[in-house]
Order: sequence, then structure tokens, then C-alpha cells
Amino acid sequence: MPTKVVVGVQWGDEGKGKIIDILASRADVVVRSQGGNNAGHTVESGGEVYKLHLIPSGILYPETACLVGCGVVIDPKVILEEIDGLKARGIPCNNLRIDPRAHVIMPWHIVLDSLSEKMRGKGDIGTTGRGIGPCYMDKSERSGIRMYDLTHPDIFAEKVRTACTVKNLIITKVYGGSPLDAEAIIKEYTEYGKRLSGYLADVSVLAFEACKSGKNVLFEGAQGTLLDLDVGTYPYVTSSNPISGGVCTGTGVGPTLIDEVIGVCKAYTTRVGKGPFPTELEDETGELIRQRGHEFGTTTGRPRRTGWFDAVILRHAVRVNGLTALAVNKLDTLSGIGSLKVCVAYKKPDGTVTSDFPATLEELAGCEPVYEEIAGFDDDISGCKSYAELPQSCKDYVQKLEEICGCPIKMVGVGPGREQNLEIE
Ligand code: GDP
Ligand code: IMO
Ligand code: MG
Repeated sequence: MPTKVVVGVQWGDEGKGKIIDILASRADVVVRSQGGNNAGHTVESGGEVYKLHLIPSGILYPETACLVGCGVVIDPKVILEEIDGLKARGIPCNNLRIDPRAHVIMPWHIVLDSLSEKMRGKGDIGTTGRGIGPCYMDKSERSGIRMYDLTHPDIFAEKVRTACTVKNLIITKVYGGSPLDAEAIIKEYTEYGKRLSGYLADVSVLAFEACKSGKNVLFEGAQGTLLDLDVGTYPYVTSSNPISGGVCTGTGVGPTLIDEVIGVCKAYTTRVGKGPFPTELEDETGELIRQRGHEFGTTTGRPRRTGWFDAVILRHAVRVNGLTALAVNKLDTLSGIGSLKVCVAYKKPDGTVTSDFPATLEELAGCEPVYEEIAGFDDDISGCKSYAELPQSCKDYVQKLEEICGCPIKMVGVGPGREQNLEIE
């Protein structure tokens, strides 16, 4: 079976969870490769809504193995709450495995996330406050604590004491915050380690063997292409690589094992947190999209900023991810909005027009979207059961997106449910 990577191609929240859940009905293995509980992936099944932060969105299928790769950062308290919550709803989580190399989000990471955001003042990033950036900083600096350490009490206690000495100096002397109690952390987190130790397994080996033996393997991206640390809207990004390349480093599987890369987007654009957003609508239409699309963050509940579909961003995503197909969600939300606009290029401050997403914020500043207007549609499409059933005006919109993005659209979403996903042959 072909191995598939599913990535977000805008600023996150494109509906990756839904697509993964749908594809997972045919998958043997689902693997997460980066990010942490900054992610919030919604899956709706049988009238039930599941909000997953760290556990792969294949977990609703009891036979599907769900693997958390070495590139993910794990808040042990959060993953245990997630496991307990799923178990209480009859989902056993027996097939969950976590790589021992994955780094642990510790209390000082959460404290430092919030203190550094405060210190940035008006220049804050608008992080989720989950300690993601500081945890990846320690990983890069080679002082992080990994899942293996967490589950080995002696190693763990020593590492916490060492880290706390340094982190407390930073918290108190640099930021004027309150110091953390190393011994209390050791006591609390050692218990988490005991509960999580049974889940540890080498995800690189498991994923490799699954790919090699022809199993159906899905790699689940978190965040989105424009939040990528390298090719996103730096510094208004997350601290990992949500693009398809991040799958290899974040799971320990080589690129030759990946067959397909599916990009997930919305039929419009949203962003939560700060940073540039060329097609943002700060008007009634933007508010209408927010209300109709329930555009409020899955993780933090913050209202999402909304705007028109941006093909400059999409073409950037097609290139940097090597997309083989696109899934476009939330077409239903655009019903009744009036005539629709899609951004096809940016006009630069010197008057020239570009179809490439600028590499820096400085180059992006002053760029204005060049729009094409397309007829809207008023029909309720949420009950459509096949692509052929969609009104012609909807199909025209989808066809237009395919044309300007330069990538085949294989799926269209007309609602949050599993059955509201229309495949295009
Ligand atoms: P993710 O982070 O990419 O998994 O996306 P989120 O779960 O954070 O946000 C997407 C939201 O849109 C969720 O509430 C989904 O249930 C919902 N959703 C996904 N696809 C569709 C769709 O086609 N139509 C509608 N109306 N909602 C959708
Ligand atoms: P999913 O997987 C949308 C955004 C935050 C902030 C920036 C940095 O659900 O699509 P961080 O806490 O990561 O340091 O915050 O990244 N962000 C997301 N936005 N969806 C996400 O995940 C996000 N994860 C992080 O809002 O702007
Ligand atoms: Mg989300």
C-alpha cells in the first residue's frame, strides 16, 4: 500500500484530524512526527466529537497502531489525560506507542513560554502557551529530557535537578518570575513516567517495518506549512517543521519510503495567533465566515482570524511539501457568503506582481493580494453524498482552486463528519 503523509498547508486547523480519521479506516498505522499539544485535531464520528492533541487521529480504530515519533514534544500530564479521557469513552489506546527519544515538556518550559511572550510585549507571537518553543530550544541545545529519561527514575531525578538549577536562574534573574521546586516536580513526574513506561517503543523501527511489509501507513502532520520554522512566516511560526520533510526527521523514516503527500486546506484561510495574513478580512464577511465556520481554536478557544483563499500560499505549499494531492475542507462554510474572492498573486510595493510567497516578512510587508472574483453559492451542500451532486457553482470554485494551485484536488469537505467528505475521481 502507498504510504501517505497528510500535512496542513495554511496556518493550521485545516481539518487534518478529519482527513486522517477518514484515511485511517484503511490504515494499519498512523504516525505523528512533530509538534505537541499546541495541536488540536477534531474528529467527529457517530455524533461524538473527539479533540485530540497528542494522540494520533487514527486512535478511534481499535486495530490501527498509533505511533508518536521522536520529533514530537510530549507533556506527560496532557497525554495521560488524553489516554484517560479516551478510555472513559471506550477507546482502549492499547495500540499507542511513544518513541523513547521524544522530548518531554517540563513545567519550566510552560513557565518560560509565558514569561518570554510577556517580555516580547507587543511583538509577542501569540503562542499556545504550552511550552512548545522552550522544549524544542532545550532539544536543540542538547539539554532536554526525553521520554526514556522520564521512565527511568534515577536518570530523571538527576536531570531535573540539573535543569532546575539553570532554569530557576533564568526564571528569577532574567524574567523576575518565581522559582520551581525540583523535588516536587520529580515526585509528580516520576508517577507520570511509571504510567507511560509501558507505551515506549522505537517508532523508527515500527514505522520502517510497517512500510517495508507493505502495510498502509499514514503520517499525520500537525500545525501547517506557514507555521514551519524554516519556510513559514518566521518568527510568527511554531518551533518544529510541519512540512512533509519534517516527517522523516520526526519519525526516523527515510524519504524513499514515502509515496504520497496530501495537503489539507480550507476553502478559505484562517490563522490563530499573530503574524502576517495578506488576505485577512477584518470586516463583516470575515465575521460571517468565523461564525458559520465555528472558527475558534480547538486548543486555546481563541477566535481564529479569517480571510479569502490564498493561492500564493498554496503554490508555496505545493512546492515545499512536494504535494501529490489536495483535500479542501469547509466548502459548506462559504455557502451564502455572496460572491467569493481568491488571491492569485501579490502586488509588491514597487508595483510588480509576484506569484511566489515572499521569503521574509520585510518582503511580504506592503504586498497586496491580487484577487479574482468568482460567483458564490447559496445552496446547503452539507448533505451532498458525492462530488457529482454539488451545484455547478461549487464545482466551478473547486476547479478554479485546482487550476491556480497547480495540484489535483482529490477530496472536498462539506461538513465535519466522516461521511461529509466527497472524493473526486
Ligand atoms: P486540524 O487541527 O487541522 O485537525 O483542524 P481542527 O480540528 O483544529 O479544526 C478544523 C475544524 O473544522 C474542526 O472543528 C472540524 O470538525 C471542522 N471541519 C473539518 N472539515 C470540515 C468541513 O468540511 N466542513 C465543516 N463545516 N467543518 C469541518
Ligand atoms: P493544529 O495541528 C493553528 C500557532 C499558535 C502561534 C504559533 C506558535 O491544530 O493545526 P506555539 O505554541 O506552537 O509555539 O505557537 O503557532 N499554532 C497553531 N495554530 N493550529 C495549530 O495546530 C497550531 N499550533 C501552533 O497559535 O501562532
Ligand atoms: Mg487544530
